[in-house]
Order: sequence, then structure tokens, then C-alpha cells
Amino acid sequence: MAKWQTRKLEVLVGKPVEVRLLSSALSFSMASLPSYNLAIVGATGAVGLELLRVLERRQFPVRDLRLLASARSAGKTLTFQNRSIPVQQLTADAFDDIDFAFFSAGATRSREYVPVARQAGAIVIDNSSAFRMVPDVPLVVPEINPEALDAHQGLIANPNCSAAILGVALAPLHRAACLRRVVVSTYQSASGAGAAAMQELEDQARAFAQGQPMVAKIFPHPIAFNVFSHNTPVAANGFNEEENKMVEETRKLFSLPELPILPTCIRVPVLRAHSESVTAEFASPLSAAEARALLAAAPGIKVIDDPENNTFPMPLRASGDLDVHVGRIRQDPSDPRTLAFFVSGDQLLKGAAWNAVQIAETLIHRGLARKSSAGPV
Ligand SMILES: NC(=O)c1ccc[n+]([C@@H]2O[C@H](COP(=O)([O-])OP(=O)(O)OC[C@H]3O[C@@H](n4cnc5c(N)ncnc54)[C@H](OP(=O)(O)O)[C@@H]3O)[C@@H](O)[C@H]2O)c1
Repeated sequence: MAKWQTRKLEVLVGKPVEVRLLSSALSFSMASLPSYNLAIVGATGAVGLELLRVLERRQFPVRDLRLLASARSAGKTLTFQNRSIPVQQLTADAFDDIDFAFFSAGATRSREYVPVARQAGAIVIDNSSAFRMVPDVPLVVPEINPEALDAHQGLIANPNCSAAILGVALAPLHRAACLRRVVVSTYQSASGAGAAAMQELEDQARAFAQGQPMVAKIFPHPIAFNVFSHNTPVAANGFNEEENKMVEETRKLFSLPELPILPTCIRVPVLRAHSESVTAEFASPLSAAEARALLAAAPGIKVIDDPENNTFPMPLRASGDLDVHVGRIRQDPSDPRTLAFFVSGDQLLKGAAWNAVQIAETLIHRGLARKSSAGPV
């Protein structure tokens, strides 16, 4: 983990940060595997920097690593496994000999360069929203639908961060009792909007402490000491873009195209890790104790549910953890088929970098890391 990131996490968490190699998630041994040539598009961004750290944590077998960003970053260097690697400007010839290309530079760049990377033979794992809802492009969270990878054609989409975190928590409960309806409210951190938004929260907190005006450039309103409806545009159906993504992508992840989902997406002055308050209705009754046991046994989840000490999932504690934290698990007293619970997950990790690397690991593990072919996009 880069020094600045470790320091920031330690300030956030208030204790030395434990950088764990493995999570309770579906984990494969990466030792004794062939090594791969990787490209990271958007390597200097919030997700890109996390990709570097996750590849290190997982000891992913990397032969060559190409770091790509805008012309602004060309010539900068980033550290990977104690080596300094120069950042190159993203160009059409950047993908020669690349096995896996991780894209995290926004949907516009993905639309332009993903076809180029695939044409060059790379398997693309895309963090942007560009291709998530394209029918033949698998949208994958390995804890939910790893089998969707089997038919991949060289492009796999990583879901929206709030949908990924919600999905990890819902999956074991759905397997046991069949989802019927979900109501979810999010508490989304600044980091969901990228590195500049994290900086804006820090700058505003500092300005406030010094009695200076809080300047908002990335978000439409001050994010420090404030809470507001998610900053994406509100569509004609009255839901904002983030809420609509949560609905569509959760349905695709679970292959439940009609699943009723009612989301409310909110920004909160948290630096990193999203939280969600979830009410989930099932076809059959599920007690809180049963749900707790299912969640505790599920990959990629830590149950943090300690009423005696009033300790439940918190973004500070979830920051830096590959696992999604779930707690405050309660059965609705008016309906034994309905559960309420609270979730915190590091969306830069499970909602982006870790899920992307986990997809690559799963492809390798399932023998699907074959060269790309011309596909549906
Ligand atoms: N943040 C999250 O929690 C999260 C979660 C899931 C998915 N995502 C998705 O991941 C992507 C990146 O998000 P982020 O939060 O990492 O954003 P970010 O911190 O703003 O980083 C953006 C990255 O894109 C690069 N970039 C911008 N314009 C470019 C261009 N013209 N050519 C090449 N590279 C360019 C930037 O390079 P420079 O430094 O050179 O400008 C930077 O590396 C987005 O598609 C986002 O929707 C983010």
C-alpha cells in the first residue's frame, strides 16, 4: 500500500492498518501460476491506485505492468512492488501484448478504448458504466454470479459500487429464502466520486476548522458537515442515475429482471467506504439468527453485529477491508419474511479494484483467461 494511503487509512481508522492478503471472499492461490501482462487505464485515479495495491496484496502474477492515464500524468511514476513505473499517456497502441486490461478512467474513455484493447487481444475488465447493461457483456460479482464469466467474449463489466456491496450482502440470503423486494438507502462516501472529491472533502473540513468558506467544485453542495441527494442527474422517472443503476444492475447480477427495488442514494461526509440501510423481503421466513449464520458463512462478508457494545458496520472500520461488513440484522416484527440490516463496504475495493482483480483471478481459476476475440460491443 502506498505510504500516503496507509497514513490516510491509519488516521481514519485510528490504529495501524492491517493489510491482509486474503479476505474471506472466494480466494484462490495465485502461487505457481503463469504470469500476465497487465494494463491499468486510469492508474493515477482513486480506483487505479487501489488496483495497484490490490494486485500487490494478492500477489497477482504480474509479468509486465503498463500504467496509463491522461496526458496530464504522462511522465509521473507510481510504485508497484517497490519498483517505480512510469505512467504513459493512453493511446491506441498501448495494449500490444496485454493479457488483462483494467479500465477505470470513466465511461467515455472506455467507449473509445475498450474496443481497441480487445482488438489487441486483451481481456478487458471495465469499472465504468459504459457496457454494464449490454446484454452479452457479463456483469459480475464473483460471490454472486461467477458462472456468468463462462460465456465471456473478452469484456467483463464491474458493477456500480453500491450495487456490488448490496449484492454481496443479499446473495446468501437470496439463496436461502428467495428475494422478493428490496428497499435500500445509501450513505455514500466522497471517494465514490474519485480522488478529486476526496480532496474536496478534506479541503472543506480544513477550511471549516479555520473559519474559511467551504468551496465546492466537484460536488454541487458542500460535502463536509452535510448530507445531500446523490449528485448524479435525476431522470424522468424521478430517480437519479445512481439509483437507476442500482436497480438495473442488481437485477442483472441476480438474473431477476423484475425484482422490485426501491433505492434512495445519498452522499455523506465520509472519506471512503459506502454504507447502506437495507430492508429485504423474501419468499419464505428468515429469522435474524438464521440470516446471521448464513451471512457469517458466506464468502466476502464479515458479520459485525454486537448489540451489547453497540458495534455495527462502520465505514471507518470497513475502509481497507476486502470484505463487506454486515450487521444490525433484525427481523421485521410485522412480517417474518422481511429483514432489515446495515452494510458498510469499501467501495474502492469491493465496488471497484478488488472486484476487478477478483474477476481476473476467477477467470484464471476457471480456465477462462483466454485471449480476447471480437465480441458484442
Ligand atoms: N470511485 C469509485 O468508488 C468507483 C467505483 C466503481 C467504479 N468507478 C469507476 O471507475 C472509474 C474511475 O473512477 P475514479 O474514482 O478512480 O476517478 P478519478 O479518481 O477521477 O480517476 C480518473 C482516472 O482517469 C484518468 N483519465 C481521465 N481522463 C483521461 C483521459 N482523457 N485519458 C486517459 N485517462 C484519463 C485520470 O488520469 P489523470 O490523473 O491523468 O487525470 C485518472 O487516472 C470511473 O469510470 C468510475 O465510474 C469508480
